[in-house]
Amino acid sequence: MLMAVVLILLVIGSLIFHFASPWYLTPLASNWELIDTTINITFVVTGIVFVLVNFFMAYCVWKFRHRPNLKAEYDPENTKLEVWLTAITSVGVAAMLAPGLVVWGQFVNVPEDAMDVEAVGQQWHWSFRLPGEDGVLGNSDIRHVSEQNPFGVDPEDPTGQDDVLIARPEVHMAVDQPVNLLLRSKDVLHNFAVPQFRVKMDLVPGMVTYQWFTPTVVGRYDVLCEELCGIAHFAMRARVIVDTQEDYDAWLTEQPTFADTMARPPGDAAAGQAAYAICAACHGPDGQGMQALNSPKLTGQEGWYLRRQIQYFKNGIRGTAEGDTFGATMAPIMAAVPDEQTIDNIVAYIQSLPEEPLEPTVVGDVVAGERLYGTCQACHGADGEGIWALNAPGLAGQTDWYLVRQLQNFRSGIRGSHPGDAYGDQMRMMADIFTDEQAINDLVAYVNTL
Ligand code: CUA
Repeated sequence: MLMAVVLILLVIGSLIFHFASPWYLTPLASNWELIDTTINITFVVTGIVFVLVNFFMAYCVWKFRHRPNLKAEYDPENTKLEVWLTAITSVGVAAMLAPGLVVWGQFVNVPEDAMDVEAVGQQWHWSFRLPGEDGVLGNSDIRHVSEQNPFGVDPEDPTGQDDVLIARPEVHMAVDQPVNLLLRSKDVLHNFAVPQFRVKMDLVPGMVTYQWFTPTVVGRYDVLCEELCGIAHFAMRARVIVDTQEDYDAWLTEQPTFADTMARPPGDAAAGQAAYAICAACHGPDGQGMQALNSPKLTGQEGWYLRRQIQYFKNGIRGTAEGDTFGATMAPIMAAVPDEQTIDNIVAYIQSLPEEPLEPTVVGDVVAGERLYGTCQACHGADGEGIWALNAPGLAGQTDWYLVRQLQNFRSGIRGSHPGDAYGDQMRMMADIFTDEQAINDLVAYVNTL
């Protein structure tokens, strides 16, 4: 009797949980209402079966409970019952699966007016490519991938020259414009999913997969990688910003083409020396940094990383967060740097300076730090040398007290919370490995040994 009551309560509890639960589908923001319909049909069919089967079980538990002198009957063949059950089950399964086939038929047929957008996945980063004015994406191959050509676009292919490259994990789309999203992976399996769009698809190395959708609501959406792809899988995020056509067009004109990125002249160290004068006051004439002025060393740091940080300070992505007192000093100075070419020149000059080793200042447990570094090395390299392809700067030989402060800032959200700082956002998520301040010192003490 008790078991029967428990079963009935279980059913009632499940139904209440289903209808009152705050964890339900996010609001739909694409054309794929049909996917929601199929999910709802599945809920209804499985829900009815769940209720009926459990109620029937409760009834049987009560009806055929043990009583003296009651003898069980053995009835292995019952054609009538079997026909009846098979028929109902078939109808239920067909009702669940048939609408899915209809939706799948639409999903694999991309509409004529869909615009091609390529999403490139790699451990643990997204970037995007648009076909440009000719409407055709140029050939690409990982053999062409280099620091200057991270997309691996074939430089010989004329159709690739006008391809629009978006190296950041943030892409814009125009509202009500169907998109055919072509998916390419540089390394392992990934999966491109925006929950509000309701469709998702795997990226498979060596082939181009696709999915199409029409964004219908202006807004900002998170892209999640939904295929386990390594240690930072959870931090492999991007954003889709759905704009009005006007805003989209304005955004598009600001994006560089492949030809633009290849034509960019290298930085001029001689010209950079004059511009570096404003940096020298705090970072020292030889770029060694000055602890008394809270200025880290600049020499020995990769050019692409320095360039990005200067751009961040210049554009208010770094140095604007509450609590970032030292960054707040950098921001107005970098805002005065006139243009991209000057940034390249300053970086070229810094890179021309000789690098001197620093005296360690951070004290910590090197063994404990080494254990923590097991997570960091996936991106920053086993020797802390930094890996540009993973957007991870070198750590070895860099100012140790500065590393400590940055890790503290990532952990407390002072750094990495700005919506434009996609890589900082990743670090903010990774900084959860530090359970306390001491762990940060331990890690940096280990980095000092590299
Ligand atoms: Cu990429 Cu998970």
